[in-house]
Formats: sequence, C-alpha cells, structure tokens
Amino acid sequence: MFDRVIKSVAVIGGGPAGIASVNELIHVSANGESFLQKNKRPALPAFEKVVCFEQNSDIGGVWNYFKVPDPKLPSLESNEYDNPNKIYDFPKIPDMKTLLKTSFQKPYIKLSTKKLEDEAKWNRNAAYKDLFTNIPEKFMRFSYTPYKRISKGRILEPLVSMDDVKNYLDDLIRDFAPFSNIESWYTEEFDAVVAANGHCNIPYIPKVDGFKEFVELFPNIVQHSKSFRDVNDFKDKDVLLCGSGTSSADLYQYLAPVAKSVTISQRSKSVYGWIQECFDKSPELKFKPRIKRYLQNGSVQFDDDTFGKYDKIVLSTGYHYHFPFLKPESEIIKIYQQESSPISKIGNLYLYTFSIKDNTFATAGIPTVGLMFHGMEYSAAAIAGVFSGAKKLPRLEEQYDWNDSRVNIEQPEVPHRYQGFFLDKIEDQFLNPLFSLAAPGRLNPLKIDDWKPEQVEESTPALKKAFFALKSGKYSSSDLLK
Ligand SMILES: Cc1cc2nc3c(=O)[nH]c(=O)nc-3n(C[C@H](O)[C@H](O)[C@H](O)COP(=O)(O)OP(=O)(O)OC[C@H]3O[C@@H](n4cnc5c(N)ncnc54)[C@H](O)[C@@H]3O)c2cc1C
Ligand SMILES: NC(=O)c1ccc[n+]([C@@H]2O[C@H](COP(=O)([O-])OP(=O)(O)OC[C@H]3O[C@@H](n4cnc5c(N)ncnc54)[C@H](OP(=O)(O)O)[C@@H]3O)[C@@H](O)[C@H]2O)c1
Repeated sequence: MFDRVIKSVAVIGGGPAGIASVNELIHVSANGESFLQKNKRPALPAFEKVVCFEQNSDIGGVWNYFKVPDPKLPSLESNEYDNPNKIYDFPKIPDMKTLLKTSFQKPYIKLSTKKLEDEAKWNRNAAYKDLFTNIPEKFMRFSYTPYKRISKGRILEPLVSMDDVKNYLDDLIRDFAPFSNIESWYTEEFDAVVAANGHCNIPYIPKVDGFKEFVELFPNIVQHSKSFRDVNDFKDKDVLLCGSGTSSADLYQYLAPVAKSVTISQRSKSVYGWIQECFDKSPELKFKPRIKRYLQNGSVQFDDDTFGKYDKIVLSTGYHYHFPFLKPESEIIKIYQQESSPISKIGNLYLYTFSIKDNTFATAGIPTVGLMFHGMEYSAAAIAGVFSGAKKLPRLEEQYDWNDSRVNIEQPEVPHRYQGFFLDKIEDQFLNPLFSLAAPGRLNPLKIDDWKPEQVEESTPALKKAFFALKSGKYSSSDLLK
C-alpha cells in the first residue's frame, strides 16, 4: 500500500489529538499489535521515531490557558480578513537553501529576544479562566485511562473545569522537551505525518460593509471571542454578541451580571436546543438579526434595517479549518471555503482521517461531534493500525465513496459544521469503520464501558443550571465547580 515502510512519524500539535496520536503510535509493535491497553510499551516498536511538534511552550492545545490572548482582530489591511490564508502570519522561516543544510543535531540558530510563541499569531488558545466543559467528564478523556469521576458531588457534575482537563492531559504526557527562547530551525524527513493542529485557532471574521473603516475609527469596540479574557472589560457597557453558538452562550452568562445590556445578533436561531431554550428564558436579553453594515457614526445596521450602537461588539462567530503547512493546490486536504461562512466542507479525507491523495498523511480531530476526545482516539487508533501495516485501507474507490458521501451533503447535518454526525449514527458512519482499522489488541473505546454517543447529552441539565446560576451573578464558575 505504501511506497515505503513507515518507520518515522511527525505529529503536528500537542493538543488532545496530538497526544492521542502519539500514545497510539508508540504503543504499536513491529508485528502490528497494540500494547496501549496493556499499559506497556512494546519490546520491538513499529516506529523508530515518533516526534510531536508543538508550537507553544506547553502541551494541551485549547486547554493550555494563555493569560494574554491573541489579538482582538486580525490585520484588516488586505480587506480579505475572512480568508484564513490572508490572516495567518507565517513566522519568518530561514530560506530553503539554509534549511537544507540543517539537521536536528545541527540546527540553524536564530537568537531571539522574544519567544517564538510571541511572534507567530493565532497560537494563543481560546480558553478563558472560567471555562468549564460542555461535555460530561467521562467523555473528556481517552478510554485507556481510568475514569476518575472528579466532578462527583460538585454542583456542576458531570462537567469539569479547564484546569481539570489540562491536569488530565499533563498526566498523559510526562516527558516533553524543554522549551527555550533559542529559535532553532532544521529540516528532518519523516515517512508519515499526522496533522493534529486543531481547528479553533484562526478566528472567522464575517466580511461586512464598512467593517474596516469602523475598526479604524473605533479601535476598541470590536473583538473576536478568542481574545475574551476579563468580564471587567465589559462592566456597565452595552454589549453586542454576534453568533448563537457555545461561545455566545458562555460569554453571555458571564457578561450578564456586569454589562449594562447584552444583545445577541443571530444569523439563525441557535442550533443547540438548550442554548436557544436558555436564551428564550432570558427576558432581559435582546435579539437582533445579522449585522449588514458598520457605520462611521459608530453604530451598526442590521439585516432588518434597524440600527444599534454598542460600546463592545464580540464576534463569537467561530473558527476556520486551516492547515497552513499544506499547499492548498496539493489538495492533500481539500477545504471548500464557503463565502460568508466559517462552515467549510473538508474533502479528500477517508473517515476524516487519511488523506486519499497521500495515505502517509493523516489527521485527527476534524469532526465536531459531542464526543471529541473519543473521536480523536478512534482516528488515532486507526492511524497507528494503518501506519504500522497491521491494517490496510480499502481500495481508493471505497475511500472516495466515503469522502463523496460527506462532501456532497447539501446542508450541514449537525450543528454548524459539515463535519458533524448525528449521535445515533456516528458509530456506524465514523467510529466503527475507524475501529476496524485499529491494530489487534486495541479495544473499542466506547465498548469498554458500554457507553453510547447519546450520553454526551447528559451534560445538558448541568449546562442549563450553570447558565442561570452564572447570569444571576450570585455564583462564579469556581463556586459551581466546588
Ligand atoms: C473555548 C473552547 C471550549 C471548548 N470546550 C470543549 C469541551 O468542553 N469539550 C470538548 O470536547 N471540546 C471542547 N472544545 C473543542 C476543543 O477544540 C477540543 O476539546 C480539543 O482541544 C481539540 O483538540 P485538538 O488537539 O484537535 O486541537 P487543539 O486543542 O486546538 O490543539 C492543537 C495544538 O496544535 C498546536 N499547533 C497548531 N499548529 C501548529 C504547528 N504548525 N506546529 C506546531 N504546533 C501547532 C497548537 O498550538 C495546539 O497546542 C472547546 C473549544 C474551545 C475553543
Ligand atoms: N464551555 C465550552 O465548552 C465551550 C465554550 C465556547 C466554545 N466551545 C466550543 O468551541 C467551538 C467553537 O464554538 P463557537 O461558538 O466559538 O463557534 P461556532 O460553534 O462555530 O458558532 C459560530 C456562531 O456564529 C454564527 N455566525 C456566523 N457568522 C455570523 C454573522 N455574520 N452574524 C451573526 N452570527 C454569525 C453562527 O451562526 P449559524 O448557526 O447561522 O452558522 C454560529 O451561531 C465549538 O466546538 C464549541 O463547542 C465550547
């Protein structure tokens, strides 16, 4: 199947998907058996080298909190601020001639006064201090680690805090290379690559008439939700939140007690029933349709031709899928960018995991499903099974058939994204086909505890409880997580 046997794998990203991938890869033996559930490393591993590259100084991805956030907005200079290729700033890479002479042992060293993470943009994760999960604790882990039930007895059981998730991930990766301020660049060849770079990095900024001019005139009004950190910035302000997703609902519950007023600009009703229900039961909350135009007098015009003036506008409008290290024309992963929307379709991937153009390129973490951690685990297990040679991918036609069945979907089936699955179909359409590619010895993650994907909805009562308790101002999220 492969032109050469895979002996080395690079994993891009040290978030949950990267960690899941590394764990699977290092636990497969040369004869194609997974030792992960035996909790021991194989005497003769399948891969001589598995290297995880993380751009930040710590692992954890979204769960690695940055006190100082990303910029409030991207540069608007190109006027193509809704195009992820235009707003992603490549770090200054030495030229290819220099790079080709380098190796891990002999890198090109650039002395820098700044950490690399202070230069490259959109790498500061979106999490804010009060963040707690919207998924039950039992699904915020990988199946091969014990289910500890740390939320037991807390008001918000079964939800856990950002710190709980970060601690869990830290426990999984004990040894990682120390980070240094010395910027060293080198080239290294790998037989295969896993892209686990996440998809909540590059903010989606809707393209709207007058936006650039508005931001130039009033630079302190608009920001993307990725840069939200401190409710005090919104104290006594009239706030407009754009979007009806989880970010808007989350921010609203924190802002309600401090802001003078909060209005939500909804392009459509929330696709999450519990969010719309909470919004509808909040009589103090005002609603407006989508912003049609930003005006130079500091107000905005909505689709229904009403106007509003706000001290703060937060674009909780989501993120782009983006793989800046792949040349778009290679189509190793094909992104069908939709105009005026972050909801692109992702193509050329079998089971959203293996590039059909080049089966030595894989990715984990693409689907936006309730059970993200388990989804990544299934992809990672399949990657280890296929890259080790234990399992073979089906014929190309079959891979394309699966891809086409997803790319040809007219409307996103499930909230927002084409990459979502209905919970009652996800096992048949995504998880079990991936599991059939896992190396022998690997147990089916959901079957270990006989869990059903629908059980992610066990979080809904706690999310509603949190929403009303927080917006009343009587509780903080740390009170609720006690
Ligand atoms: C505010 C917020 C709350 C969320 N809450 C939940 C929740 O409650 N439950 C849930 O299941 N999911 C939640 N999610 C979804 C979240 O994306 C997943 O939980 C999970 O973090 C995805 O893991 P990942 O590894 O795919 O991506 P990420 O967590 O984004 O990790 C990607 C990693 O790759 C690194 N990276 C990116 N590009 C490069 C590069 N070129 N080179 C090296 N490293 C690179 C990044 O620095 C990052 O560390 C939330 C997301 C957000 C934004
Ligand atoms: N506590 C938590 O666990 C938590 C908190 C925050 C985020 N998250 C996670 O983070 C990820 C991203 O969530 P998100 O809410 O930031 O993004 P999202 O789920 O992509 O939602 C984006 C929202 O913006 C709307 N939108 C897009 N363009 C708009 C426009 N021009 N005007 C008004 N609205 C517009 C979309 O409307 P349409 O419906 O019309 O597309 C949608 O409601 C999700 O996986 C989410 O679960 C989790």
